[in-house]
Amino acid sequence: MHHFHYRNGRLHCEDVSLDAIADEVGTPVYVYSSATLRRHARVIGEAFDGMSCLIAYSVKANGNLGVLKTLAAEGCGADVVSGGELKRARAAGIPPSRIVFSGVGKTREEMRLGLEEGIHQFNVESAAEVEVLSDVASLLGKTAKIAVRVNPDVAAGGHPNISTGKAGDKFGVPWEAADALYARIAELDGVEAVGVDVHIGSQIDAIAPMRAAFERVVTLVRRLREAGHAITRLDLGGGLGIPYKPGDDLPPPSEYANMIRQVTEGLGVEVILEPGRVIAGNAGVLIAEALFTKPAPKRTFLIVDAGMNDLMRPALYQAHHDILPLEERPDSTEQINYDVVGPICESTDKFATERPLPVIRPGERLAFMSAGAYGAVLSSQYNARPLVAEVLVDGDKYAIVRRRPTFDEMIALETTPDWLT
Ligand code: LLP
Repeated sequence: MHHFHYRNGRLHCEDVSLDAIADEVGTPVYVYSSATLRRHARVIGEAFDGMSCLIAYSVKANGNLGVLKTLAAEGCGADVVSGGELKRARAAGIPPSRIVFSGVGKTREEMRLGLEEGIHQFNVESAAEVEVLSDVASLLGKTAKIAVRVNPDVAAGGHPNISTGKAGDKFGVPWEAADALYARIAELDGVEAVGVDVHIGSQIDAIAPMRAAFERVVTLVRRLREAGHAITRLDLGGGLGIPYKPGDDLPPPSEYANMIRQVTEGLGVEVILEPGRVIAGNAGVLIAEALFTKPAPKRTFLIVDAGMNDLMRPALYQAHHDILPLEERPDSTEQINYDVVGPICESTDKFATERPLPVIRPGERLAFMSAGAYGAVLSSQYNARPLVAEVLVDGDKYAIVRRRPTFDEMIALETTPDWLT
């Protein structure tokens, strides 16, 4: 469910015409819908109603402060993976008691930041990390509450680049090593094991692999308790997928929540969830302008002013994003199969191959749908292109929540060494 729809023949976000935004801000530009963000946060929250549950929105999916503040107002916590994300979550007003810190490579400085903020939990991913966290916390006279992220060796399905729960993936502690690591944590100062953490991948389109992983993890919780560890939390990560095209059949949050309810029944734990895409994905679009069409042997290129530096997902994962012209066309409109490409000097700068679209005229605008998660956050300045702008809509209002930098601002970050002046 999202709030992007045609009204009077033009594509709108809630009550705002996307043309009005593109006229003012220019293209490419991301546009996010507050109503969609709120709705997704509420649907997930309600699905877990009555359970002890922390919804820690995964900031990596979309860390714009406007997005974070919208979700903070809905009571979401945050799952962060860097000092920068931690600072953002705090700047958005998310209390430390609702923040979990994940990631395989935390620096001592990042650990210190988390400890000084007094965050809810560190999700640790290796024995070596535990030793360093113990040291950093002890030096500060603090105790880090930790969950060990275990690798349950379960295939999540989906694209291999975003699968994380198989033996051989870099994430988590090998299943066989978990018990020994908890025993070691019990010996160390500055760390207290309070939970178990698992995350098996992203854009997961079926409940079964998650159930298999979570059931395995519940056996570990019971075993750890028998060994004397006071495990009171279970962090089940994120990963629930979203529909990217009509006909995509994804399990609803209620089915996901019911499975978790069943699997954790009687366990007496606080469940922590780290949803990212399912909250932000369909709450955002990227608007681009068509520059040229170019006929070539056996294909027609449609060249747009957004590039892979603005939306990486097609180049990285061959991901599909629906493309809608801002001007609505009748169903009967003649269609052309376009290869939709950007201006970047890379062959992977391609958004779609042989995509049927109505005839697109230069100057016409298009929306890349479902781009709210892993869109702007993955953008870069490759080819010296300014970082893409972002706009947040709420009803009939909108605001630029990240403006496009000027070329002068981009250049000003660099200094010329004196031997070149
Ligand atoms: N928790 C952990 C530990 C994660 O690694 C991730 C995502 C999440 C939560 C949130 O997962 P979600 O609910 O959004 O699926 N760039 C890729 C996705 C990478 C996901 C990385 N980790 C893409 O565009 O598809």
